[in-house]
Amino acid sequence: MSVKIAPSILAADFADFGREVKAVEAQGADWIHVDVMDGHFVPNLTFGPPMAKALRPHVTTFMDVHLMIAPVDAFIDAFADAGADMLTSHIEAGPHVHRTMQATKAAGMKAGLALNPGTSVEAVTPLLDIVDMVLVMTVNPGFGGQKFLHHQLAQIRRLKELIGDREILIQVDGGIDPTTAPLVTAAGADVLVAGSSIFRDGSADAPEPYGAAITALRDAASTGI
Ligand code: DX5
Ligand code: ZN
Repeated sequence: MSVKIAPSILAADFADFGREVKAVEAQGADWIHVDVMDGHFVPNLTFGPPMAKALRPHVTTFMDVHLMIAPVDAFIDAFADAGADMLTSHIEAGPHVHRTMQATKAAGMKAGLALNPGTSVEAVTPLLDIVDMVLVMTVNPGFGGQKFLHHQLAQIRRLKELIGDREILIQVDGGIDPTTAPLVTAAGADVLVAGSSIFRDGSADAPEPYGAAITALRDAASTGI
């Protein structure tokens, strides 16, 4: 299976999300990663279900919503209504994460489970028969542009062993660029989220640098597989 590249719109122009999404998809994005932050679970605020719903008609690939909020459950139906394809919640966001995964699937979305760098990957073991994806954070969530945490590579390798032959994707998020991409794919990652390394140069009006950055990531990632 080839690696998927999921640009994070956290690094795009917040006043122009619709055109940014169209531009980055035309430049080769596989998924669109949407970072929802509540100023409580993480020390930053972004946006909620109405923004995701407004964005949805502009997304032709796959809308991958990463919730950095607590609690989660009261918002699951709103994100289903917004058209999320994958809804990822943090294992640290509450005591009833299994219920959150069940409710996410019952609402018709794929269920993702995210882990902070301070959480052992062994904690996902009881949830592996319900999740579609596990997101191993490679920075502490909350902000783009942070430095990749190399110790998370061992967690990705261990997660790959725990997953075995189940059809569960491994996603990584934070500090992914052409230097770190081959490290995470060698460890077992399938979906690479990248914000600043894709949106650093270019714009919706001049999007070719987005394409160059996606190609550079994809090429680098393939050397790790
Ligand atoms: C961080 C977010 C990421 C962020 C990654 O909390 O979950 O998706 O956009 O940004 P970069 O790629 O710049 O590290
Ligand atoms: Zn994210």
